[in-house]
Amino acid sequence: MTDDTASNAMWGGRFASGPDAIMEAINASIGFDRRLARQDIEGSRAHAQMLGAQAIVDSDDVEAIRKGLLTVLSEIEAGTFQFSAALEDIHMNVEARLKEIIGAPAGRLHTARSRNDQVATDFRLWVREQCDAAVTGLEALMRALLAQAEAGAAWVMPGFTHLQTAQPVTWGHHMMAYVEMFGRDAGRFRDARSRMNECPLGAAALAGTSFPIDRHATAIALGFDRPCANSLDAVSDRDFALEFLAAASICAMHLSRFAEELVIWSSAQFRFVVLSDRFSTGSSIMPQKKNPDAAELIRAKIGRIFGANVALMTVMKGLPLAYSKDMQEDKEQVFDAADNLMLALAAMDGMVRDMTANRPALEAAAASGFSTATDLADWLVRELNLPFREAHHVTGALVKLAEDKGCDLPDLSLADMKSGHARIDAGVFDVLGVHNSVASRTSYGGTAPDQVLAQVARWKGILR
Ligand code: ARG
Repeated sequence: MTDDTASNAMWGGRFASGPDAIMEAINASIGFDRRLARQDIEGSRAHAQMLGAQAIVDSDDVEAIRKGLLTVLSEIEAGTFQFSAALEDIHMNVEARLKEIIGAPAGRLHTARSRNDQVATDFRLWVREQCDAAVTGLEALMRALLAQAEAGAAWVMPGFTHLQTAQPVTWGHHMMAYVEMFGRDAGRFRDARSRMNECPLGAAALAGTSFPIDRHATAIALGFDRPCANSLDAVSDRDFALEFLAAASICAMHLSRFAEELVIWSSAQFRFVVLSDRFSTGSSIMPQKKNPDAAELIRAKIGRIFGANVALMTVMKGLPLAYSKDMQEDKEQVFDAADNLMLALAAMDGMVRDMTANRPALEAAAASGFSTATDLADWLVRELNLPFREAHHVTGALVKLAEDKGCDLPDLSLADMKSGHARIDAGVFDVLGVHNSVASRTSYGGTAPDQVLAQVARWKGILR
């Protein structure tokens, strides 16, 4: 390609010399925006087609452009395309190659268009695909969680607040909590997608164009709902990318919390789950180790995804309308965040699919730590008609007694119980078992196995 031109082939008319090497280094984006090649050619094809239909460019030239663009695309896909930093970005690389292939008609493609609306269009197309990919990844993960929840709808485990034993819950209930979170994440990507689905193409540099273009036609051809209604806005905002990054950040935060639980749960101290060998690593020195590296890396990846969001917000926040070159810095942040989000989603999906819950360990843990103290207090209210505050106090004293004796609540004798309140009878022992405890939590959205299975069925319907 024409790396050796004294001044730039695209705007050489006004320039006596080419750029300094440092200028080229800071200015060129081809090192990363080559990822937009497919979208760039798609946008150019729609634009050329419209220029022909509007009789702005004659049909022979449009046909030459169409064929030439397909050749360029096949070269890029085959890996034979020579990208040139002197040509700055993907837009000029494609156009310069088109000129080499078809000659003069290539010069008509940029009629009624600017790189400003071109890049905004390409990038929207790219981010839109990533929204779809995120939803697909989330749905796969949700299906894996549903399988875990259905199998373990009745398995008991400790529920925590402050990471202190709180009340027994079911394994299925815990899995379904993440289904709710990831379901909202998918909704955020869908919302962002529908809001970004307006086409900037035809906004030209910033003011629109005097050519009789048909922006509705190009919008529809590219799968957008409609053209952006303000040309200044179309070329100068990147809120579509920011919404993607915001949705990605919240999703990554959810992934990170779950990853943190898996790290804790797979430790020798908890032993709540066994992660598969396929999603674990060993230690080079300690033969007994099986490390939850995938979970740890998912937990860490939120850093770069958050970082991308903050970086692009910072890039955008001081820019006067319309386009400024600052905005070229949008792409690497979004590419990196998207790549790592998709990887994290796939890794979490694999881990959840493969992991085995350790039922005996979950059940033993569920029964320790006075986890049914609330059930005891509720029993005192229900059966003895104590005010809840008094029941709370009586239960607290009984917990203290059990603690002093080194046993759990169900191990206290009836005489011990009566020392807490004289009217307590043997019926109290029915509510102190963890299975009875979870089975009693039948309020809508509660942890009772029936409630969990109802939510599993609801989500299966949604995901079908
Ligand atoms: N490479 C540029 C970017 O990514 C394309 C737009 C350039 N526009 C311009 N007026 N220099 O933002």
